[in-house]
Amino acid sequence: VLPLHRGQTGARTAHAPPARLFPPPHWPLLPRLRRPFRAVFLPRRLCGGAAAAAMLRPPRRLPRPPRRAATAATGPGRRLLLSTPIFYANGPPHIGHLYSALLADALHRHRGLRGAGPGRLSTGTDEHGLKIQQAAAAAGTSPPELCQRVSGLFRQALTQAAVSFTDFTRTSEPRHQRAVRHFWGALRDGGSLYKGSYEGWYCTPEECFLPESQLTERRDAQGRPCKVSLESGHQVHWTKEENYMFKLSAFRDPLQKWLQDNPHAISPDPFYQCVLRWLEEDLPDLSVSRERSRLPWGIPVPSDSTQTIYVWVDALVNYLSVVGYPETHGEWWPAAHHVVGKDILKFHAVYWPRIFVHSHWTVHGQKMSKSLGNVIDPFACIGQYTLDGFRYFLLRQGVPERDCDYYDEKVVKLVNSELADALGGLLNRSTALSINPSNTYPCFSESCFPKVLDYRGTKGMGRASAEDYEFVASVASLPLQVASYFEGFQIYKALECIALCVRQTNGFFQRHRPWKLDRKDPAEQLWLDTIIHVTLECLRVYGTLLQPVIPHTADKLLSRLAVEPEERGLSSLTFLPRYHGKPCPFEGRQLGPDTGILFHRLEKSGRHQIETKKL
Ligand code: MSP
Repeated sequence: VLPLHRGQTGARTAHAPPARLFPPPHWPLLPRLRRPFRAVFLPRRLCGGAAAAAMLRPPRRLPRPPRRAATAATGPGRRLLLSTPIFYANGPPHIGHLYSALLADALHRHRGLRGAGPGRLSTGTDEHGLKIQQAAAAAGTSPPELCQRVSGLFRQALTQAAVSFTDFTRTSEPRHQRAVRHFWGALRDGGSLYKGSYEGWYCTPEECFLPESQLTERRDAQGRPCKVSLESGHQVHWTKEENYMFKLSAFRDPLQKWLQDNPHAISPDPFYQCVLRWLEEDLPDLSVSRERSRLPWGIPVPSDSTQTIYVWVDALVNYLSVVGYPETHGEWWPAAHHVVGKDILKFHAVYWPRIFVHSHWTVHGQKMSKSLGNVIDPFACIGQYTLDGFRYFLLRQGVPERDCDYYDEKVVKLVNSELADALGGLLNRSTALSINPSNTYPCFSESCFPKVLDYRGTKGMGRASAEDYEFVASVASLPLQVASYFEGFQIYKALECIALCVRQTNGFFQRHRPWKLDRKDPAEQLWLDTIIHVTLECLRVYGTLLQPVIPHTADKLLSRLAVEPEERGLSSLTFLPRYHGKPCPFEGRQLGPDTGILFHRLEKSGRHQIETKKL
């Protein structure tokens, strides 16, 4: 179970028994399982790696999870657990944390709209370990007090950012600690643990050992030479101690095979390839405990109070404790999907079934860090750019495959052009009383926009041009396109497609100059109403699709179009049914009240760095 070799290459001096190679004693009991049991717990597509071995085993003396777990994992109305990482409680939230949470939130909301069955979105705070212990000492407080405060800040930030989490786990909670102890027992009973002595370079901020190949030489603040992590630049310290080891090496082959059989286990693809490459390297056993005298702030190893469970074992189990491990997790597992940043991919990739990985936000081209003083405060950003404005920016500009750069002017420019001008302007123009005095969803006229098989030969048939047919076809295909981008963890691409369609709709509206058409002329009126009808249909589709990303603005837009709450789901989303000769439930309906500008232009940008304040 535990962090892959991100380190862990310290010398093992062993009174350690040699790890029995494949099949390891506790490897997913697949061959030994009766078929129906396997179907319940280990649907092929979803069963995971090393941890699956330990946790999928039905706990002793506890009832088996109910059979409906099979349908839960694979059936159409399956339950799905989505998670954000749990955040270190050593400092306040920044926009990188928020980004992890927003990606998960948008996926969760999108699935909800698709009627994908009841889902859960879990988040929380990671509160044990040396990092927290040291942060508390530096802040002149105790670890529980620091965690209480910082955990509260994260809860507040996520709530303020409208992250629709259903569960918030603090690893200091008794229910979580109980699950971790049980998990440890499952590893021990399965023969995966042994005691060994371990030494190597330990990096506290990353909470792991690092191999020489990931280190470089620098000078510390006093000018003395020291070793630092190549990736993070943090100093490492030589650490030698007795602790428990997990036989991770025995899992290399089965993990490789499992990943090869499940190419969508990690998205986007470059990260999947990356994990495969890591697995080609050596996969040494892992140290999974620390001496308690050095690290008292953590969960003690059951029946060995001289040792503390390694913080990553503790943290990863949050994905289980949140759904009631060891009693009731089978109702949710293994249909669990995890959003994680690239820096913690190694820690997750070995164990958990499906992982969505994202890159990082830099600020003016630099890594965000407390020491550089350039950490961006999400509270200030939400205050300045509005909640929906800032959510839209992060999800529209954040590309999971590569790092994205943040600067304030970029937010203002993007949000003004796409939300205020393009989307808001379109709603404003198409609902203006001057062109739609009855304030209704007007009628579509088939004679103006006749259905055709090939729009290239439409000349003279109605009033719509080939360009109009092309644009209507792209809006019609939008919901499916958006769904597939969401499922492929490319929310930014979904938003890009929506923005493109909004631009095309503005083009359509502009091209036909409805304000020039004369309502008193019956032929002109039919065409005028058709233009408005098509535009409102487009806006209805955009409002529906944007709900997971800008919930408040989407609600305002849909309410203005008089779309009832039960008409806002994705499974029943139709576009322009009248074009296909089908009735449109909105036609002739009175529009909702005009509550003013959809999205106000942002006037100024400011600096939003978190002041280094005492925690
Ligand atoms: N506690 C661990 C996770 C344990 S999960 C079992 C941890 N916490 S963290 O607070 O450091 O990071 C939480 C998330 O924030 C990670 O997904 C991380 O990648 C993300 N980000 C941290 N800095 C970031 C950026 N600059 N940009 C985008 N995301 C970033 O790791």
